Amino acid sequence: MILLFGFGGVGRTYAELLYERTGLRLCAVFDSGGGIAKKEGFTSDEVRQLLKTPRGAVVKSGVGRAAALDDALDMCQVVVDVSPPNYETAEPALSLYRRALSKGLAVVTANKAPLALAFRELAHRRLYYKATVMAGTPLVDLLMGLPPQKVLRVRGILNGSTNYIMTRVYKDGVPFEKAVEEARELGILEPDPRLDLEGLDPAAKLVIIANTLGVSLALRGVIRRPLAPLGPVTRYLATLDLETPRASVEPARLTEEDPIHVDYTMNAVEITTDVNTILIKGKGAGRKETAYVLLNDTLKALAH
Ligand code: HSE
Repeated sequence: MILLFGFGGVGRTYAELLYERTGLRLCAVFDSGGGIAKKEGFTSDEVRQLLKTPRGAVVKSGVGRAAALDDALDMCQVVVDVSPPNYETAEPALSLYRRALSKGLAVVTANKAPLALAFRELAHRRLYYKATVMAGTPLVDLLMGLPPQKVLRVRGILNGSTNYIMTRVYKDGVPFEKAVEEARELGILEPDPRLDLEGLDPAAKLVIIANTLGVSLALRGVIRRPLAPLGPVTRYLATLDLETPRASVEPARLTEEDPIHVDYTMNAVEITTDVNTILIKGKGAGRKETAYVLLNDTLKALAH
């Protein structure tokens, strides 16, 4: 049984796929207006009804009964967090994780803020966070498989929306503002677009990568410069030098041949270790891509 915390684009796609692809059920759904729960889990018909409900209105959907978070936690085994990131305090997600983990539940998340602000506290708990970096491309699994190789450097394109914007500007000749609007329509911009355009989103991803590799890096420790079109081929480059350690997110001009030069919503990461150089590319933003990875982590959480 799953408690879904957040019911926007990714949350709804996750709910659809959960019922389509697994025998699992949601026992609670929370959005900005409150939550509903049902001990036996919602039926497919009830989920269809929920999917027709406007944002922030699950309490008024007529499905289940209104529930407090603590009661709902007692009905579920896994919490899936798809709520928007809060980079000031990581709340309300961080308190939810503490409560869920102390009750012995697993947490699966696409929300970067709690990890970016409290990785050390949350690490080694039953927390699954593959969806936070590169969405549909399982970079976190790859990183976890590297030790005892020593990772020296990671550089890449970790933000799908700004990569889309820069591709539209330089490849297709679209004005910057129009490209930003298109990215919003695609649903890949953060609710607060400054998180993408000023680099907090890719900076949080660098913090998660570094800490996954066992290197302590704080969000305030990432040097950030806002996205700016510098000429072809400008990309929002994220770099992590693990030996210094130094981390930065800044606009940079890449050559056409650079292995991390990707277009539109693609992400690419080059990992240099003491024995190998690994390149991983794939879709880094998108409702379906993120929902599938959340589903994979949910199945893992239930298997452990
Ligand atoms: N706004 C993010 C991006 C979504 O553009 O990459 C996925 O983390």
